[in-house]
Amino acid sequence: MKLQNTSAFWPGPTISALPGYTLPKDVKIVEVGPRDGLQNEKTAVPTEVKINLINMLSEAGLRSIEATSFVSPKWVPQMSDHVNVMQGIKKFPNVSYPVLAPNLTGFQSAVQCGAKEVAIFGAASELFSKKNINCSIEESLERFKAVTVAAKEANIPVRGYVSCVLGCPYEGKVSPSKVAEVAHKMFSMGCYEISLGDTIGVGTPGSMRDMLCAVLDVIPAHALAVHCHDTYGQALANILVALQMGVQVVDSSIAGLGGCPYAQGASGNVATEDVVYMLHGLGIHTGVDLKKLTEAGAYICQALGRRSNSKVSQAMCRL
Ligand code: HMG
Ligand code: MG
Repeated sequence: MKLQNTSAFWPGPTISALPGYTLPKDVKIVEVGPRDGLQNEKTAVPTEVKINLINMLSEAGLRSIEATSFVSPKWVPQMSDHVNVMQGIKKFPNVSYPVLAPNLTGFQSAVQCGAKEVAIFGAASELFSKKNINCSIEESLERFKAVTVAAKEANIPVRGYVSCVLGCPYEGKVSPSKVAEVAHKMFSMGCYEISLGDTIGVGTPGSMRDMLCAVLDVIPAHALAVHCHDTYGQALANILVALQMGVQVVDSSIAGLGGCPYAQGASGNVATEDVVYMLHGLGIHTGVDLKKLTEAGAYICQALGRRSNSKVSQAMCRL
């Protein structure tokens, strides 16, 4: 596959220079709080709290809620209660509860627990791949292939993550063409959607635009999602750029919880409350009830004994 250097197509560095952008009418939010949000907690979060949180998020109208991970408990002990979480949550009709599965072992355990959707997670950075899943990018793609083949047989949809799309905690800069190459390989093996992860939240609207330009050359916009951590406070701006470029799926985390245990220093994901507030302000439909969402945020923050990272929740508490 020959990837073009698409940055040449862009007239300039400002958003207003984007040619004739439009915004989607409807955006799907993939709530990753119960997984990405809680995988990085220092103290164990009781399983019952996770189950209550997921049920409250379902009540709030989210259509996709990443419930847990079927990863090694030695690597991420915070997710070791995955069986009880999957069996304890109320499964709302029309809500998907995807789980992370890094390999066939994880996939099989997930399906045994009733998972109806899984997510594989690769990276555009060799060192991050090694630190996070203990193998090279090439080896990870082999493992993912085995998962996608088994998933196809079992009629289970697979979502694919590519991490470090705008920077890596170990390698620094990551080239848009490398992101496009890995994303395309995962898409070609059958992932219905590729979520592009700014794992350490270093991206800006400019780097998001350049990266998306390269990825959009090889994957249609309707099959892409963005997954922005908010370390440098750029997440909402980056999401807006992605929406202007045709992306219609946004990952976010209740109360802005989150981080990756193998990406030190990265802060939480963009808060779902803040994304919903922005989307509704733009007249974009999400199906999410902001009041119920903030109640779910208040619940988990109280359980964790901490203040919400959501600006919207902070503001609504003061009003
Ligand atoms: P490994 O040690 O190389 O695995 O770990 P292995 O295949 O050599 O097996 C070693 C042992 O682990 C064996 O058990 C296996 O059975 C077991 P033993 O024989 O020693 O008793 N094992 C498993 N157990 C449970 N579930 C499994 C599994 N697989 C093997 N699925 C492995 C490789 C991938 C398992 C490990 O590195 C791992 O679990 N990594 C997960 C790390 C992780 O969860 N990171 C956070 C999620 S990624 C993220 O947050 C980024 C994202 O949000 C997007 C973004 O922000 O960019 C998605
Ligand atoms: Mg993440």
